[in-house]
Amino acid sequence: MFYRTDQPSAHLEQGLAHNPFNAIVVPRPIGWISSVDQDGRPNLAPYSFFNGVAYSPPQVMFAATGQHEFGGYKDSVRNIEATGEFVVNIATWDLREPMNASSVAAPHGVDEFALADLTAEPAALIAVPRVKESPIHLECRHTQTVQLPTRNPDQPNSAVFGEVIGIHIADEVIVDGKIDYARVLPIGRLGYMDYVTVRDVFSMVRPTWKASEDD
Ligand SMILES: Cc1cc2nc3c(=O)[nH]c(=O)nc-3n(C[C@H](O)[C@H](O)[C@H](O)COP(=O)(O)O)c2cc1C
Repeated sequence: MFYRTDQPSAHLEQGLAHNPFNAIVVPRPIGWISSVDQDGRPNLAPYSFFNGVAYSPPQVMFAATGQHEFGGYKDSVRNIEATGEFVVNIATWDLREPMNASSVAAPHGVDEFALADLTAEPAALIAVPRVKESPIHLECRHTQTVQLPTRNPDQPNSAVFGEVIGIHIADEVIVDGKIDYARVLPIGRLGYMDYVTVRDVFSMVRPTWKASEDD
C-alpha cells in the first residue's frame, strides 16, 4: 500500500478508516503541560507531540495542532507565549483518567487542575503550578515558538520549545540511583484511542567504533 499525503483523505481510498499517521509514530511520550495565563489562572492539558530535544541545556518541545475549539491558539500556547514559563508533568498509569479529563476543550481561564480533581503544587523556580500527584516534573522556561507549515492558516501548528531549568523526581521512584520505570509506569500515546504503559523493558549496550590496526 502506498498513498500520497497531499490528498487529505487518500487513506480512505486505501481502506483505512482513520488517518494512520499517529498510529505509525508510536509510542509518543505525553507532555502534560501546566501553565498560567496573564492573570495567574492555571491551565493543564496533555500533548503527545512532545519530546526531549537536547541535553545541554536540557530542552523539550510540544506541538499544538489546530486552533482552540473556541477560536485562537490553544490555551497552553497562548499562556506560555504570555508568561514564558511552563511545567511538564509526567503522565502515569495511575493518572490516566485525570490526564484524559484535562484534555477537554474548556474555555480559556478554566482551571483543569480543579476539573480533573488534581492538586496544584507550587514550582521551585517559576510561577506555574505542577501536578502534585505526578512523580516527575520539569520546570521550563520558554525559548521559542516555531510556526510550522499548515494547510489551513486558521489551524496553526505551533511547536513550543522550552529549556528545562529544574527537575523534581519523587524519592519513591528512585532505586539504586536510577528512575525505576515500574514505579513510575509512564504512559504513552498510540494511534486511535490507544495508549501504552512501560512494562516491557530491555537493555542494549551501544557499539563503539574500533579502528583496525592498519588504520
Ligand atoms: C493523550 C492526549 C494527547 C494529546 N496530544 C495533543 C497534541 O500533541 N497536540 C494537540 O494540539 N492536542 C493534543 N491533545 C488535545 C489537547 O489536549 C486538547 O486540545 C486540549 O483541550 C488543549 O488544551 P489547552 O487549550 O488548555 O492547551 C491531546 C489529547 C490527549 C488526551
